Amino acid sequence: MTTTIEQLVAQMTLAEKAALVTGDSNWTTTAVSRLGIPSLLVSDGPHGIRRLPDVHAIVQKSLPATCFPTASGLAASWDVDLLYEVGEALATEAIAQEVDLILGPGVNMKRTPLCGRNFEYFAEDPYLAGKLAASLINGIQGRGVGTSLKHFAANNQEFERFSIDAQIDERTLREIYLSAFETAVKQAQPWSVMCAYNKINGVHGSQHRQLLTDILKTEWGYHGFVVSDWGAVHDRVAALEAGLDLEMPGPKPRRTEAVIEAVKNGTLDVAVLDEAVGRILRLVFKAAETPKGGQQFDADAHHALARRAAAAGMVLLKNDGVLPLQAPQRIAVIGRAAQVPHFQGGGSSHVNPTQVDNPLAELQKLAGDAAVTYAPGYPADDSFEPSLIDEAVSQAKAADVALLYLALPSSIESEGYDRTNLDLTPAQVALIQAVTAVQPQTVVILNNGSAITMSDWLDGAAAVLEAWLMGQAGGGAIADILFGRTNPSGKLAETYPLKLSDTPAHLNFPGENGVVRYGEGLFIGYRYYDAREMPVLFAFGHGLSYTSFAYSNPQLSATTFLDKDGLTVSVAVTNTGQMAGQEVVQVYVHDQVSRLVRPYKELKGFAKVALQPGETKTVTIPLDFRAFAYFDPAHGQWVTEDGDVDILIGASATDIRHTVTATLESSLDLPPTLHAESTLNDWFTDRRGWQAIEPLMQKLRDEASGLFGGDDEDGPAIGMEMLRFMLDMPLVSILHFQESVLTQAPEEMVEDLLRQVYAAHEAED
Ligand code: BGC
Repeated sequence: MTTTIEQLVAQMTLAEKAALVTGDSNWTTTAVSRLGIPSLLVSDGPHGIRRLPDVHAIVQKSLPATCFPTASGLAASWDVDLLYEVGEALATEAIAQEVDLILGPGVNMKRTPLCGRNFEYFAEDPYLAGKLAASLINGIQGRGVGTSLKHFAANNQEFERFSIDAQIDERTLREIYLSAFETAVKQAQPWSVMCAYNKINGVHGSQHRQLLTDILKTEWGYHGFVVSDWGAVHDRVAALEAGLDLEMPGPKPRRTEAVIEAVKNGTLDVAVLDEAVGRILRLVFKAAETPKGGQQFDADAHHALARRAAAAGMVLLKNDGVLPLQAPQRIAVIGRAAQVPHFQGGGSSHVNPTQVDNPLAELQKLAGDAAVTYAPGYPADDSFEPSLIDEAVSQAKAADVALLYLALPSSIESEGYDRTNLDLTPAQVALIQAVTAVQPQTVVILNNGSAITMSDWLDGAAAVLEAWLMGQAGGGAIADILFGRTNPSGKLAETYPLKLSDTPAHLNFPGENGVVRYGEGLFIGYRYYDAREMPVLFAFGHGLSYTSFAYSNPQLSATTFLDKDGLTVSVAVTNTGQMAGQEVVQVYVHDQVSRLVRPYKELKGFAKVALQPGETKTVTIPLDFRAFAYFDPAHGQWVTEDGDVDILIGASATDIRHTVTATLESSLDLPPTLHAESTLNDWFTDRRGWQAIEPLMQKLRDEASGLFGGDDEDGPAIGMEMLRFMLDMPLVSILHFQESVLTQAPEEMVEDLLRQVYAAHEAED
């Protein structure tokens, strides 16, 4: 007979249980050999395995592993199948290195491009981030390796990340900052979720009961365990009570003692501890079902996948026709990043790559007989060196085309600190300006993890390729794109603003006195630029191809639909150019009228489609209840409303090709929210409220005078202006002006009316 987890927990001593909920080393959980409980070995990170040979080390050269593009690059592929494939490869490497669980992916929102860790996050849009993360997780976990979805929640900056208090209203939290987590949890059930260091509305992520227990475990039905970010726990007992199952790293004898003591003195219910132990053990034994070690992984095959993934995510931002290169005879390669590629970010996700493509060497392999020169353009310390610029200029002048490889230094962008501006370094800007002044055929190739501004130099460049922190095979991927071996198909998962002061969080970042106020609310990324009707440098969803695509015949599955049945949108896409390519079709929803303010449009579906020249395919994208719903704090739930919704089908957030409209019928019968201070407008717009006050309104119309307008031939009237004046007054205050015609005190009348409304609601239920 096999022992169940519950039986196992019952056999454990209090000391064993208390020890199990804290790690045994930096990267392992506590084993209990007496009961045959093994330990779980965890390892960073999202885009490659950072397995330290010694589990007691926190920083050490990790075992060689494939460094895939970081999340920014993967996300810009908009390719869920590719993320699944990368996930499978990560799992294979984890298994080879005896890793049970990978600490990633991260789905925090790119609230501001300044966040130093944006390179590890997917997008400024929760729908896109959630879908990509779910696919990556399914790819990893499908092979029996766990994941840790992080950092839950609102870890959107590095500034004071251990302590900052992110103050966010409930609706914004739900719609923007929790939504990607929700999708990933519901569609992929990551084995673990990692809490954030920061506070959310005054409470540390590690002790946030509402987030860890009420929302994550209860509402979303999460079965895995919650692990702390490394060092995020402040009060172990309070964290357990809030729903934090595993504290990492360990061992921490004082924590274990505190848990034992709390159970003994009755301040901690042992059932809470048992629950945490059970959640951890379920995954410890699940991990044991997949034997680890033994086999090596195929490093060459994974390098090839990393090259394909890097190319799929690179975004051709601008191209006046110079790309793909048409067999130039003389190529000037300029920029240190061509020789010393910057392909990953600093911090916990740093991978020791199995091999690294040299971008210059990869370019030469494809350049045929062309004469290729090289000039670094700027020194290793990124300082300003006029002689290096002069050298670059003379090489550029002598060539048919100049390829400028520029990387944002890791001293500017990394885990641990935020950026202070969105610019390339002054030396790099000067280099671009000098080179483009003498060579109109200049291509700028960029390595950075998040948006940068380009106003100082963009006009001079013939083409710009955003290559991101592209992983170890990125050098080859750049060459593939420049020479047209791969047709670029990446699209931005984040807006590129014209300038820093245009960005949504500009007035509320990074916070002060320990608090950062999310004053922009729902309006981050394109939601903000839409609302402000502001031009941007490159829009969310933008990305060029060497071919062109036409959209036609947009169709909806229905013109009127019930919210819970959803709607299917289809559109035909034709490759109208000369080269095979891939297009990312984006579907946004715009609600025409709603009770609460909503972003103008929100991404609710997308599909990447591959097309030969002249080929047409019909893309079909389903939209479910949530595509149309918003979170209404007054009801504490996702709501839909009757009315027309526009479905916007586009090639980017600012390149909408078709708009089709359907009528939504809400299946919700929401309870009334009327209360003693509700306004006349509230009573009018609530169906039952209107029924209840109609007779009273009639009476006031018939009997009231004075304040409610002069008499006319139809008797005392409530004129339009007066009505508008009164709409925003509480009903009780209006009644106070009419006491003479009332038989009851205004407060009592309103109480009676409220009773009627709530009784009518209950009777209908
Ligand atoms: C990071 C996590 C990481 C952990 C372990 C923390 O500092 O925030 O993302 O997984 O360290 O390295």
